[in-house]
Amino acid sequence: MADHHIPGVVALQESCFPPPFDPELLWKANHLRRHIELFPAGQFVALLGSDVVASCSNTLISEDNWRAHKSWDETVGGYFLENFDPAGSTVYGLDISVHPDHRRQGIARALYEARFDVVRRRAIRYGTACRLPDFINSNFPTPVSFAKAVEAGEVEDRTLTPLLKMGLTMTDVLENYMDDIESGHAAALLEWQS
Ligand SMILES: CC(C)(COP(=O)(O)OP(=O)(O)OC[C@H]1O[C@@H](n2cnc3c(N)ncnc32)[C@H](O)[C@@H]1OP(=O)(O)O)[C@@H](O)C(=O)NCCC(=O)NCCS
Repeated sequence: MADHHIPGVVALQESCFPPPFDPELLWKANHLRRHIELFPAGQFVALLGSDVVASCSNTLISEDNWRAHKSWDETVGGYFLENFDPAGSTVYGLDISVHPDHRRQGIARALYEARFDVVRRRAIRYGTACRLPDFINSNFPTPVSFAKAVEAGEVEDRTLTPLLKMGLTMTDVLENYMDDIESGHAAALLEWQS
């Protein structure tokens, strides 16, 4: 990702996280500029011609920070990634967005390969916390029971199911992870090691 891709990434976020996701929670241009300054090797876009059709952002966090399993804000240090640790053990995936018109063509898988390459070069693991947007319309009483059923392949979630297909392992479900009505404010903690 380069600075000239930033307007495309900002527009992409709006297509990928429609309401009821709070638009205030999406990256703004000044956040993305800071991510590129801090960790240029961890920011990716997929282009169709010059159009941004997908993106993902990553940070590096310390081992203690990863193991603490706290909220998104406390883990990454907010939108400006104040917990970025250049010697960190964990490449932490902040988001992945594929434009709705270009899904199911392997673009997320290609971005995940780029993430895994960063891990192979410099870190112990890839870790992330994944939304559960289909929880709200499920019959499951809690996000934890829903996530476990998705993990077992009993039901699908439009976000957790694809991420499990990337080879990530679910290690926990974090309650009160971020402000996210559809996910019951929870997230599935996922990791991958080379
Ligand atoms: C989740 C998302 C990134 C997937 O992107 P994508 O480019 O369509 O995914 P891919 O085409 O690379 O598919 C990867 C795998 O997941 C599967 N998959 C993709 N979308 C799926 C869905 N909605 N339900 C079930 N499986 C799905 C694919 O079949 C593929 O598996 P396979 O290779 O074993 O056949 C995309 O739907 C998206 O941007 N969603 C909105 C933003 C979001 O929620 N991001 C994650 C935040 S935690």
